[in-house]
Amino acid sequence: MASLVSIKQLDVHTIEWLLQNAQSFVDYHGDARKGYSVVHLFFEPSTRTHLSFQMAAQRLGMEILDFSIDQSSVNKGESVIDTLQTIDAIGVDLAVIRDGGDWPALLVNEKLNMSLVNAGSGTFEHPTQALLDALTMQQHFGSLSGLTVTIVGDIAHSRVARSNVYLLHKMGVTVQFAGPEAYKTTHIENVEWVDFDEAVTQSDVIMMLRIQHERHAEHYEIADYHGRFGLNKARLNMMRKDAIILHPGPVNRNVEICDEAMADPRCKILTQVKNGVAVRMAVLDWCLQGGSDEKLVSA
Ligand code: CP
Repeated sequence: MASLVSIKQLDVHTIEWLLQNAQSFVDYHGDARKGYSVVHLFFEPSTRTHLSFQMAAQRLGMEILDFSIDQSSVNKGESVIDTLQTIDAIGVDLAVIRDGGDWPALLVNEKLNMSLVNAGSGTFEHPTQALLDALTMQQHFGSLSGLTVTIVGDIAHSRVARSNVYLLHKMGVTVQFAGPEAYKTTHIENVEWVDFDEAVTQSDVIMMLRIQHERHAEHYEIADYHGRFGLNKARLNMMRKDAIILHPGPVNRNVEICDEAMADPRCKILTQVKNGVAVRMAVLDWCLQGGSDEKLVSA
């Protein structure tokens, strides 16, 4: 079986296949993966990723094992790696993991039989978010190649930005960043920083990010964030008519994005959430079939 830890492990063919298979799973309810088991390990809070992975597993006919971090031996000090080895020994086929640290790096020397899927790990990566974002763009524009995507906000602390850049660059998309000086990073290569007011008039996709206060060493407020870096009413009016607005959620209304933008027909945030189920079905399916692209369900 295969694992999905980073977008970097996927080639263009596999990304295209995952997106195609996700599209074919949009209306699928069946038993394609009946007999397989999955456990969801969420060490950090989540609404959409946790629920959509659960829904994805149900719609493939998988058995979902009940596991709550609060009721587990993690609370007695058991490490993530020891927890994973225990779950593996029980015979679970697949573990979906969200945590605030770097379990992917810790796993390098661990031998596990089960598949692992990264459901968001610290500031490292959030690969299924990038895949569902790509599916949403592909549905709207027909293809990804040639698009310009501006990602705005707390880039430095964003696993979503990292996974999106890695995926979108592979697919021929121009990615640019905008936002406060304090949230710049040198760790993501080949992305130009641009003026938001210029970018908002030109971009196909405006992807707004939440400020990740929980990952900052110290809390400090940027004065008038909404006016300077938010998708406010003035910038909404400057956007192209055929452009779309994305946000991975959760949203801080009237901080990074205004109420009017949330209600605008160009806002695809709930489409992203819906696509999250189909993308996660495709990822679970891909892992369980060993990372091959034998198609299970026809579009
Ligand atoms: N986009 C995302 O990861 O949202 P949740 O934290 O609600 O899962």
